[in-house]
Amino acid sequence: MKILVVGRGGREHSMIKKLKENQQLDKIYVAPGNAGMGEEAECVPIDEMHIEELAAFAKEAAIDLTIVGPEDPLDAGITNRFQQENLAIFAPTKEAAKLEGSKSYAKDFMKKYGIPTASYGVFHDAEKAKKRISETGAPIVVKADGLAAGKGVIVAMTEVEAIQAIDDMLVDKTFEQAGSTIVIEEYLEGSEFSLMAFVHEDKVYPMMAARDHKRAFDHDQGPNTGGMGAFSPIPDLTAEAYQFAVEQILEKTAAGMLEEGRPFTGILYAGLIMTENGPQVIEFNTRFGDPETQVVLPLLKNDLVQVMQDVLAKKNPNLEWYPGACVGVVLASEGYPGTYRRGKLLPQLGTSTDTFIIHAGTKKVDGKLVSDGGRVLLVGGRAETLSQAAANVYQQLDKAELNGNFFYRNDIAQ
Ligand code: AMP
Ligand code: GLY
Repeated sequence: MKILVVGRGGREHSMIKKLKENQQLDKIYVAPGNAGMGEEAECVPIDEMHIEELAAFAKEAAIDLTIVGPEDPLDAGITNRFQQENLAIFAPTKEAAKLEGSKSYAKDFMKKYGIPTASYGVFHDAEKAKKRISETGAPIVVKADGLAAGKGVIVAMTEVEAIQAIDDMLVDKTFEQAGSTIVIEEYLEGSEFSLMAFVHEDKVYPMMAARDHKRAFDHDQGPNTGGMGAFSPIPDLTAEAYQFAVEQILEKTAAGMLEEGRPFTGILYAGLIMTENGPQVIEFNTRFGDPETQVVLPLLKNDLVQVMQDVLAKKNPNLEWYPGACVGVVLASEGYPGTYRRGKLLPQLGTSTDTFIIHAGTKKVDGKLVSDGGRVLLVGGRAETLSQAAANVYQQLDKAELNGNFFYRNDIAQ
């Protein structure tokens, strides 16, 4: 059995670690991967977006199953291309990936199928959009329609900020084509959580819920990032709310996509907010979340290869979870999410039996590992309780000499 993972970040490293538990696995490739994965998988120097080259490689190397991490190749149709070549792939087609690729599509879809989400309007014209703001007031949320690497959402606390966001997107074209359509959405209040599921057509197998920490600094201060840490499960999420999210959001979405003629296969990720009226959808992603994956997969007892094969064969994978909790804290480059330097020698983290290290932005120079991205590493730990898992992770991180080159949040999972 040979597997190809597409991507290069922490999420993909975490997937590889989990996939490696499979006993029938002969070889695992990752394209393009990163230096920290080199011991666990063979890195193939093909960019995620070079779909023709990826398909040619998958054929030549006789890959049995391809798994895709990031959203851009999904939106560009990697699954459609692999399917044309009869190459097995666990990922949605570009038609199904539109749930993430177009926020206006996702909103219209949710409205049609009665899936709980904030009220909204879709705009192409700045004047009309501003008129909406003067009617609704603030706080209000302005979103670029297309993929914007997590930067296309402005939670405007004042009308001035909302108008600025509209000008940035529709007039100054900060997000180019991705922002030529915008969604203006009701501001929802509540605690957030992420719920991912393995999906094949109308079959939905949900995972444990997780929460990521998006702000750069402690106590949720500072700019939004790709995620500074995560934990799972979520103590404040009731079994009832979880069940509601599975039935009223994930299952309805899978059924709706089938009805739309866009059957979904792959990982469906709902970004949810717990409002007074129950969980509502903030966004859909059509792939594993990053950094949620790094704390959810270590809790999964099943063999991940077998799960994906079962799901593709319409068999129930009977997901089982370890008791306890998992916490992951990201070590980021100083300056991230703004400008930062690459090529800094990674701090020595040592090893411990109750923690693990996931590489995100690293590369090897003269045999030494150095930073090569904003999010560099994630230190994770699984333990009986959240607080024990967090304590184990921080014990490792607190030993690291950061030399002003790196930083991490001190309050993940607290
Ligand atoms: P997204 O990139 O869609 O995940 O949005 C980024 C963040 O913006 C979310 O994690 C929320 O914290 C916030 N957000 C998005 N939509 C809303 C909303 N309707 N109400 C309140 N906050 C929101
Ligand atoms: N953690 C949010 C995402 O993966 O988009």
